[in-house]
Amino acid sequence: MSKTRKVGFTETVLRDANQSLIATRLPYSKFEPILETMDKAGYYSAEVWGGATFDVCLRYLQEDPWERLRKIRKKMPNTKLQMLLRGQNILGYKHYPDDVVRKFVEYSIKNGIDIIRIFDALNDARNLEVAIDETVKQGGHASGTICFTTSPVHTLEKNVQMVKDLKSMGVKSICIKDMAGIMGPKESYDLVSAIKDAVPELPLVIHTHCTTGLAFMTCLKGVEAGADVLDTAVSPMSGGTAQPATETLAYALRSLGYQVDLDDKVLIKMADFFKGVRADFIKDGTLDPISMATDTQCLNYQIPGGMLSNLISQLKMMNAIDKLDQALAETPKVRADMGYPPLVTPTSQMVGSQAVQNVLAGERYKVVGKEIKAYCRGEYGRTPAPIDPDIQKKILGNTPVVEGRFADSLAPEFEKTKAELGATAKCDEDVLSYIAFPQVAMAFFKDREAGFPKKDAPKAAGAAAPAAKKESDLPPMPAWQGHVYYANVPATAANGMTSRPIQPFAASYQPPHLVMGAQDTCPGSYTITIDGKAYQVSVAAADGPAPAAAAPVAAAPAPAAAPAPAAAPAAPAPAPAPAAAPAPAAPAAGETPVPSPMPGNVFKVECKPGQAVKAGDVLVILEAMKMEIEVTAPVDGTVKSVAAAVGTAVNTDDLLVTLG
Ligand code: CO
Repeated sequence: MSKTRKVGFTETVLRDANQSLIATRLPYSKFEPILETMDKAGYYSAEVWGGATFDVCLRYLQEDPWERLRKIRKKMPNTKLQMLLRGQNILGYKHYPDDVVRKFVEYSIKNGIDIIRIFDALNDARNLEVAIDETVKQGGHASGTICFTTSPVHTLEKNVQMVKDLKSMGVKSICIKDMAGIMGPKESYDLVSAIKDAVPELPLVIHTHCTTGLAFMTCLKGVEAGADVLDTAVSPMSGGTAQPATETLAYALRSLGYQVDLDDKVLIKMADFFKGVRADFIKDGTLDPISMATDTQCLNYQIPGGMLSNLISQLKMMNAIDKLDQALAETPKVRADMGYPPLVTPTSQMVGSQAVQNVLAGERYKVVGKEIKAYCRGEYGRTPAPIDPDIQKKILGNTPVVEGRFADSLAPEFEKTKAELGATAKCDEDVLSYIAFPQVAMAFFKDREAGFPKKDAPKAAGAAAPAAKKESDLPPMPAWQGHVYYANVPATAANGMTSRPIQPFAASYQPPHLVMGAQDTCPGSYTITIDGKAYQVSVAAADGPAPAAAAPVAAAPAPAAAPAPAAAPAAPAPAPAPAAAPAPAAPAAGETPVPSPMPGNVFKVECKPGQAVKAGDVLVILEAMKMEIEVTAPVDGTVKSVAAAVGTAVNTDDLLVTLG
């Protein structure tokens, strides 16, 4: 070991530590005073953008993320600015067409980013190719990333092969991203050694989290094996779910003879500053001191800490916390069935939700979420090992599997969206904000137009905010945009669809998006609303009953407790709610109650009393099962009353809105 070897530091306080500890709620105004000081610290780079920062800026902080980046750039001219990008998913969770990925990379660099750390949740290098290529073209530094995970198929050889693939794509460095803090000192030493043997010329970065308490040892052994750069956070914002402390590692490495080019005086100033920031966030409840503690549970379960808290909260929501042991035992089985995806957003949520569904339904894969289905189709990319073929067949039926790279099937979107937005978008950056988070960006544009009026919506006050506190819960919720929860589908007896059932739900009611049969046997042509945008799709019968002729929308409200009028006799009508279901008070004549389809929290109310609505208009958005679920108007009408209040918890069948 060469003792004079230099070790660089990437400061994460403005991105990952901010995201992991305080749900990314640090506004620009709060950290602006320290930027010029930070610029003098001597970091290898500062991670300041990407991840959840983009969404949270638009959604909660009334900040234009692009403007934030430009301001940071101006105050930190001497430090390399770094961002985190989810490859083909840019900053969201669906795959975007290549033109959007390229524009996003181009404008990230134009606005001030130097280094783009690019990863894919499945480690499918095909999902990194376009982002890496564009970064190189724009003169940026592409850092190719391996999501660290353990499984029978994640061998050293496989990781080394991926690193070689990344090198051939043109990356200038490699990052091992241990998003869950489960990489121990031995794995770190072995993996870094293997990668350094294969590509000694590429700088190697270690990114981990302190959650399990392993991080300092993992970093040290990684450095001993040849790692060049460590991700750390300035001490007051370090530890727990965030990164290990910058000052501590600098001290330890220097004492071992490594060269560390950080200015201690600057680090002291930064620490003093962020102690104040931390105190403010503890006071307002955003920073839960528990997130700063060590939690070794994920070492026992081998699942990320954030995923464990998701499992617990989902089971609590379903009144089934007594099934936790079963769900914990089911989780690794689901992961194996799914071909051992790394457990990182969004696969961690998908695997966890599916394990819960398998346990609650009493039959494995009887109830399957949209995302797992899309995953089994190959929409997320190539899985590390093949998906269990029997289970894949059970989930997909005859739905064809995506051949090749999913993004190849997506039409270009940037110019089209730009034309649609017209004057609403002031610049190309606005168009990209809109493509990434349509509803959130549109609300932001309106607020900006109005000079950012004070909002009653939760801002930095953590307790009331619907956002979660752990990195793996983030970003807060458009999470699954691009995957349909509530389809604006004509509900008819013929197609068996009850996307907006008018009658009270039975106790056994499963939201249609979670029921395989309901979705698989409803051929026809539909308008589907995704995050406020309407898409025309046609659904062909795969197997099961012969397709019924596409039935017209049942315009008249179906009477409560009776199935919609049978337009075609081909398919059996859905059974009306059994008498065992709690019978809510019968609605007044001419009124249509809109109940909650599942337990959750009211995230947004999108309608007001007196407002005229059309069937399919979004009335309320629930946050449930870590997803956003749009509850739409079942019929045309006028909003008579709104029972749902933002931030309140609702149960299945609770009244949200009454239409008159
Ligand atoms: Co991280």
